[in-house]
Amino acid sequence: MRVLSGIQPTGRFHWGNHFGAVRQYIDLQGDPDGAFYFIANLHALTTVRDANLLRQYTLDAAIDLLALGLDPDRATLFVQSDVPEVSELCWLLLTGTPMGLLERCHAYKDKKSRGLGSDAGLFNYPVLMAADILIYDSDLVPVGEDQMQHIEVCRDLAASFNHHFGETFVMPKAKILDHSARVPGVDGEKMSKSYGNTLDVFEAPATLRKQIMRIKTDSRPMEEPKEPEGDHLFQLYSLFATDLQRDEMAALYRRGGFGYGEVKKKLAEAAVEHFAPARERRTELESRPEQVRQVLGDGASHARKKAAEVLRRAQEACGVKPRG
Ligand code: TYM
Repeated sequence: MRVLSGIQPTGRFHWGNHFGAVRQYIDLQGDPDGAFYFIANLHALTTVRDANLLRQYTLDAAIDLLALGLDPDRATLFVQSDVPEVSELCWLLLTGTPMGLLERCHAYKDKKSRGLGSDAGLFNYPVLMAADILIYDSDLVPVGEDQMQHIEVCRDLAASFNHHFGETFVMPKAKILDHSARVPGVDGEKMSKSYGNTLDVFEAPATLRKQIMRIKTDSRPMEEPKEPEGDHLFQLYSLFATDLQRDEMAALYRRGGFGYGEVKKKLAEAAVEHFAPARERRTELESRPEQVRQVLGDGASHARKKAAEVLRRAQEACGVKPRG
């Protein structure tokens, strides 16, 4: 069984990235052949248009993942563009992709509906993502809920290729955690860099505390009992709490007579403490960029072997290479 996932290098990871995806990467790692994780720099090119910044963000993403517990002895970590086979498979898939399927995809649709310019890269984004998944014969793809539609597209494209050219691709499945499928941001909307509502994993404690104290809450009086479900501050607190702590907090909400400020203070304490070891590891890794680059180089060599094998299979199936 192979687990695979990717994350874009677009700046520092936020809690949504961590609790929706990265934590799953860490839990699912086991041996380097069974877990492939990559930094999706080709996808990031649709938003990061500064070459030096993209290079810096790519290295930062690798450092972040290692600091959060990704272990190169138990998983393969690499940069997407270091496996050029993926771009070739992307073309093979693009040729059979109905335009209508991509027109319905939310990343493109959202940008268009907000009147923002979009390019062919953004439009075809889900197809590159399908190539990322299919080229490693991936079985399981740990992601947050926002990627579900893309995984459905991937499954559609794999099924249609297999139907047309014969069994070629393994059919992947998404793995989404119930309680952190859609982590809310400070305003209650989905936490996302493009909404400017993030809380970052490696934020300095003092800044993080301030940002947490500014989380939007309603203005009901202290005495009024409140329902914890659906309250984004409660959801954020639950990310760090044990089951017991969460139940106690839920009871406090229902009883009323407390202020949101207290919850925020507890949340800030828990978050600062939770990420302290990773912050320390990050500082240490930052001083050894060569070692991080080495990990990425070794990871790419390993991933490329698998990618070349699957690409060849697809090329033979659709007739751009002679049958082996
Ligand atoms: P990206 O970089 O936007 O996000 C990385 C991961 O973080 C998850 N995530 C969230 N989960 C819960 N709540 C949130 N608020 C939240 N925000 C982000 C995302 O679901 C994702 O799992 N297209 C992908 C990168 C990619 C990829 C792939 C993923 C490229 N190729 C192949 C899987 C397989 C993306 O933009 O993720």
